[in-house]
Amino acid sequence: MSVSTVTTNGLRIVYSDTGTGHPVVFVHGFPLNRTMWHPQVQALSSTYRIVTVDLRGHGESDAPLWRYRVEDFAGDILTVLDDLRLPRAILVGLSMGGYVALAFARLFPGRLNSLVLTDTRAQADSPEGRQGRFQLAQAAYERGAGAVADAMLPKLLSPKTRDTRPELVADVRHMIESMRLGGIVGDLMAMADRPDSLPLLGAIGCPTLVVVGADDQTTPVSDARLMAERIPGARLEIIPEAGHLPNLEQPSAFNACLDRFLRELS
Ligand code: MLT
Repeated sequence: MSVSTVTTNGLRIVYSDTGTGHPVVFVHGFPLNRTMWHPQVQALSSTYRIVTVDLRGHGESDAPLWRYRVEDFAGDILTVLDDLRLPRAILVGLSMGGYVALAFARLFPGRLNSLVLTDTRAQADSPEGRQGRFQLAQAAYERGAGAVADAMLPKLLSPKTRDTRPELVADVRHMIESMRLGGIVGDLMAMADRPDSLPLLGAIGCPTLVVVGADDQTTPVSDARLMAERIPGARLEIIPEAGHLPNLEQPSAFNACLDRFLRELS
């Protein structure tokens, strides 16, 4: 694995690059970082070139205290592709990473080989959803990232995972608690302001896989089904016994369905 840093508009973006083969770029969710893709790097880098990116505000990348937009995150991914001299890549985005992948598909369709949208949705936030973002930002400001972990863990992991996988719960909590305030608030503002991507779906011209954990309460199966119905030729895969993070909760099933899709492409 090599870890690299690239600078865009004065911001340092850190990414990892492992293996050889078709390039597959993984985009993490909120409030996580590129290490959430560890099981995919382990299992798939013998067959594919796996690139995992820390978006601005996350992991080892810079986390300025300023306004973030999903379009800025899509620009971070483009900067990484340019740094690697990759004309096109397969993009895998989970949740907020899916919002970023949809923004990338809208802004840079020529750089997209194919798309995997996992545990995400195309609709913009409702007014109540935006209000919830504001309240979580205030909780982070007043009580720190621990308050965000308390609020998010039940939304990220299924009840079964929380009962039976204490080490995974601790890993995810650690990821959240290592977030800096600029990243947390920047993400929440970016998600609250993201555009409705429903009108984009019919225009997505690349092969697309939609994946969702059967027990995902944050972006439920109905959201995944809507995307799969509207994106031409898209396929839907539902991962049993997983919540919002199927790549960590059921890594074997998640990797198998990703591998199937990637094999069909090649
Ligand atoms: C995520 O997992 O990225 C977030 O929960 C998505 C969201 O809050 O909309």
